[in-house]
Amino acid sequence: MSKYDGKRVVITGGSSGVGLATAQLLVDEGARVLITGRGQDALDTARGQLGAQAIAVRSDAASLPDIGALADRVKAEFGTVDALFANAGVNGFAPFEATSEELFDSLLSINTKGPYFTVQKLAPLLAEGSGVVLTTSVANVLGLPMLSAYAAGKAAVRSMTRSLARELLPRRIRVNAVSPGPIDSGILEKSMPEEAAARTKTQMAAENPMLRMGNPTEVARAVVFLAFDATFTTGAELAVDGGGSQI
Ligand SMILES: NC(=O)c1ccc[n+]([C@@H]2O[C@H](COP(=O)([O-])OP(=O)(O)OC[C@H]3O[C@@H](n4cnc5c(N)ncnc54)[C@H](OP(=O)(O)O)[C@@H]3O)[C@@H](O)[C@H]2O)c1
Repeated sequence: MSKYDGKRVVITGGSSGVGLATAQLLVDEGARVLITGRGQDALDTARGQLGAQAIAVRSDAASLPDIGALADRVKAEFGTVDALFANAGVNGFAPFEATSEELFDSLLSINTKGPYFTVQKLAPLLAEGSGVVLTTSVANVLGLPMLSAYAAGKAAVRSMTRSLARELLPRRIRVNAVSPGPIDSGILEKSMPEEAAARTKTQMAAENPMLRMGNPTEVARAVVFLAFDATFTTGAELAVDGGGSQI
């Protein structure tokens, strides 16, 4: 008997990085997972890696019709859900003066509106006593350059974690946030040329108290803890950042 045998978990942005690492930890311990993402190739590869315990669904976290369809699919596949990890997200670097309305809207649609409505539309399916985890970022408390719109969107996620925790408490659903620092997930390479990403990663590691970046599995362990084991914790935020936002 494995620790999460028979548990049903939905992970948005589960086709790579932190979401995929979380899906892998849970599948390895007996859970069934439903992962989402936009790119079909990444979803197919992730489904292949995770095996028969996983279902991969193409769904855009910024689209309300997609979120509604996702809820229908989750209901058909799982009935009810034991944990929801609203993790889909992108980053976008730009100086404040050069941040366009398009970049601002895109970041907040995916990173802020996405988790809000994902939790709202899937809430009816959450079992009593289940756990919700939202992905924020240490950028929500640090004044990092080039990330003003991204950080504002993630700070809103920190705030909604508290509000949703209060509103879902009558159903004994806990809502917590995981706050990654610099994690070598491949996300940087998606938003800048490879050489710039390599330079940025070297700098991030040098500036971190632990003198390194984290890896997706280190965040995944915190997510699984918050989703299942942190039974007297709600509305909280757990930093997984090598101490970067703390010391
Ligand atoms: N890596 C870090 O240093 C770091 C630090 C702080 C916070 N975070 C946060 O951690 C979360 C996971 O990021 P990661 O580092 O694991 O990066 P990642 O490997 O790029 O994973 C992001 C996942 O989200 C999906 N996604 C992106 N936009 C989406 C959308 N509109 N609809 C549905 N899925 C979408 C991606 O698939 P598709 O692109 O195919 O859709 C992918 O599965 C994000 O919320 C990110 O902001 C990361």
